[in-house]
Amino acid sequence: MSRVLVIGSGGREHAIAHALLKGERVSEVFCAPGNPGMKADGIVPVNLSLSNHSALIDFARDKQIDWVFVGPENPLIEGMVDDFEAAGFPAFGPTRQAAQIEGSKTFAKELMQRFNIPTAAYATFDTYDAALAYVQEQGAPIVIKADGLAAGKGVTVAMDEATAQNALADIFVDRRFGSAGSRVVIEEFLEGEEFSLMCFVRGEEFWPMPISQDHKRAYDNDEGPNTGGMGAYSPVPQISQTVITEALNTIIKPITAGMVAENNPFTGILYAGLIATVDGPKVIEFNARFGDPETEVILPKLTSDLGAGIEAILHGDEPEFTWDNERTTLAVVVASEGYPDNTHTGAVIHDFDCTATEAEHGTHVYYAGVADSEDDGQLRASSGRVLLVQTTADTVVDAQKIIYDILGSTDTTGMFYRHDIGFKALQ
Ligand code: AMP
Ligand code: GLY
Repeated sequence: MSRVLVIGSGGREHAIAHALLKGERVSEVFCAPGNPGMKADGIVPVNLSLSNHSALIDFARDKQIDWVFVGPENPLIEGMVDDFEAAGFPAFGPTRQAAQIEGSKTFAKELMQRFNIPTAAYATFDTYDAALAYVQEQGAPIVIKADGLAAGKGVTVAMDEATAQNALADIFVDRRFGSAGSRVVIEEFLEGEEFSLMCFVRGEEFWPMPISQDHKRAYDNDEGPNTGGMGAYSPVPQISQTVITEALNTIIKPITAGMVAENNPFTGILYAGLIATVDGPKVIEFNARFGDPETEVILPKLTSDLGAGIEAILHGDEPEFTWDNERTTLAVVVASEGYPDNTHTGAVIHDFDCTATEAEHGTHVYYAGVADSEDDGQLRASSGRVLLVQTTADTVVDAQKIIYDILGSTDTTGMFYRHDIGFKALQ
């Protein structure tokens, strides 16, 4: 039996820790910093900062942790896997260098170019004037991305030229994204259905998960600003197996082999954000980690032992991953009012009563931005995405009914959620 330290604090880390504890292999999960909502599932939050690698390593030593799972992108990009490995702890996730596939859009684009991986045509600019001239030459629709990490908010899909110009002004003149804004990637607009394909990866070997679809816009009907993701479901019936197979062959296989060939092998979870265009699947972005909220609909489909699978990968053995490919999983995020642009935290979290469908449908609440308030000990919203309710049912409609019944009968004052998660599967 193993003791595992999960790094991160969101719904994704809650789902990872919960799945680890469901298996036989892992007996104890600590989550740093975690959140108090996780405690109900037997996960132990550890009040240590993500940026203090040496304190985390000391904790791992102290608690005799067997291995570490690094959830979010920032610690990966800052070399947390390298640091744990140097201290003698197996850590599941890419090295600092391999995590550049998410950390730098330019790095990812150049890698894709070298290995002929289908993606939107692009150009990179360091100045406002050059970027503006390019936008005027190309016209709209066009996509503007701040290079580096901007928490999913550095992207503007401009359907007209004025929007594109405003986005450039935000980045270069107003410096809205800080240092992430010193450089911009301008991309061809890709038209088609979007989906997320995640794989367990060890160098050239990979084990794909079922696909899922996120809902990036804040409000119903895909309106409002881009967010970290407001809900997800899996499978995505409008994406055929042929498209998935093509994506594995033309994207996942060459990118993993390419990174090995360049002496920068990737181990961990590789997330491909894809668009099924008329010319086949193309890459919008790679992430070096599990997606959030995708993880919360994918891991509940896993019918094998997550901890055993990851340990096999870490030990160089053949892992086993099996999935429930029959039923639909669906999850709806509950966010603080005003998220993402003007988030008002502090809403009181009332209990979501999942008991009616827990046994048959595995209905579960995964907590993200929640904290115990100091004055009354009450669980309160502490950031944009607060929690997520997930279930498993025969159809998208059945799953929606279960979740929206629970959400509708709970007091969510001070928070909001989308009412249409899964709608594209029903069109
Ligand atoms: P990203 O942060 O790169 O995932 O972009 C956020 C969202 O913008 C994506 O989920 C897509 O919906 C959209 N997007 C990004 N790049 C493109 C593109 N080249 N063409 C069309 N839509 C895009
Ligand atoms: N849901 C998108 C992401 O995790 O980046």
